[in-house]
Amino acid sequence: MRKVGSAASGLSVLGIETSCDDTGVAVMSFDGRLQASLLSSQIRDHAAFGGVVPELASRKHQEAMLPMLRAAFSDAGITEPRREIGLVAVTTGPGLMGSLLVGVMTAKGLAQAWGCPIVGVNHIEGHIFANQVAHKGLVPPFLCLVVSGGHTEVILVRNWGDYSMVGRTRDDAAGECYDKVARILGLPYPGGPEVDRLASQGDPEAFDLPVPMSGTSGVEFSFSGLKTAVLWAVSGMRREGREIPVADVCASFQKAAVSSLLGKVCLASKITGVGRICLSGGVSANSALRTAFRSRFGDDVFIPPAELCTDNAVMIAAAGLDRFRRDGASGIDITPDPSASLFDEKRSKTP
Ligand code: KG4
Ligand code: ZN
Repeated sequence: MRKVGSAASGLSVLGIETSCDDTGVAVMSFDGRLQASLLSSQIRDHAAFGGVVPELASRKHQEAMLPMLRAAFSDAGITEPRREIGLVAVTTGPGLMGSLLVGVMTAKGLAQAWGCPIVGVNHIEGHIFANQVAHKGLVPPFLCLVVSGGHTEVILVRNWGDYSMVGRTRDDAAGECYDKVARILGLPYPGGPEVDRLASQGDPEAFDLPVPMSGTSGVEFSFSGLKTAVLWAVSGMRREGREIPVADVCASFQKAAVSSLLGKVCLASKITGVGRICLSGGVSANSALRTAFRSRFGDDVFIPPAELCTDNAVMIAAAGLDRFRRDGASGIDITPDPSASLFDEKRSKTP
């Protein structure tokens, strides 16, 4: 390896994120200054299919990658990446195999060509680090609710790189449930932002939907029953020929979903004795969720701006740099792992 950077080296880390349907490229200096961040969303490509089509996703990553790298270097004022990039950080999983492959193979090629170290980053660790990027003074321990299209997990962050699972969903992720409810209502994909927008115009008391897992004593989530309750309510009205009060359904669904997430994080806080809470993942862009957590936890809740909540490469660059400093580089033989777990990794612990 030719280059090993330090804060004083003037080198930068290149972050690459391609785990699902967003191509992200970011450049960050070794002292944490963000130099460039680009995101290419494939939402319009997948919308016609009502969800992410894996084969299409990997092709779109492939098309976007090289132009985005060039644009990111230009934005960052990097003219000689071979000299100026001291680390390549790339998401290795969890995610879609075909999507991860594009990022990982690109990162390996660049690291080989430039003779610089490469570090593989767990996507969930990336989401946790969105909070480090957004809140400079944030120090562990804290609980992080990672709530996205693929994950609903409460993670105890004892230290950066030292994680325990406190609780997770038994079935669907919260974002998946938002997307399915949107589909039931005939709203466009991805449904989360649309349900959020319509919910603000509806009556949250219009439908009495169950708050998932409210009766259990564990930190656990379940969203498939709530989705089914929405499906029954909507198909019942359709059968009777009634017009669907879409905004009211959205508001009532969102009330139950947010109440479940908030309730179980409160329980996790009580059980662990950790009062500082971070949110991350696409669903943490939700306006009702942000309001509910802010009013419950006040100054003890940390929520990244929406662009850091959803998938991005800035969080991957930050997590990769931290992991590199803790554990050194990954081997050039790293491979994507679609079902990678944060808790299998070195220095991570399960309770
Ligand atoms: O973190 P993310 O960009 O990708 C994954 O890793 O899954 O999260 C995407 C998910 C989608 O399910 C989307 O509907 C949801 O986040 N989402 C929202 C909102 N914005 C995005 N859900 C509820 N309210 C929102 N405002
Ligand atoms: Zn994500």
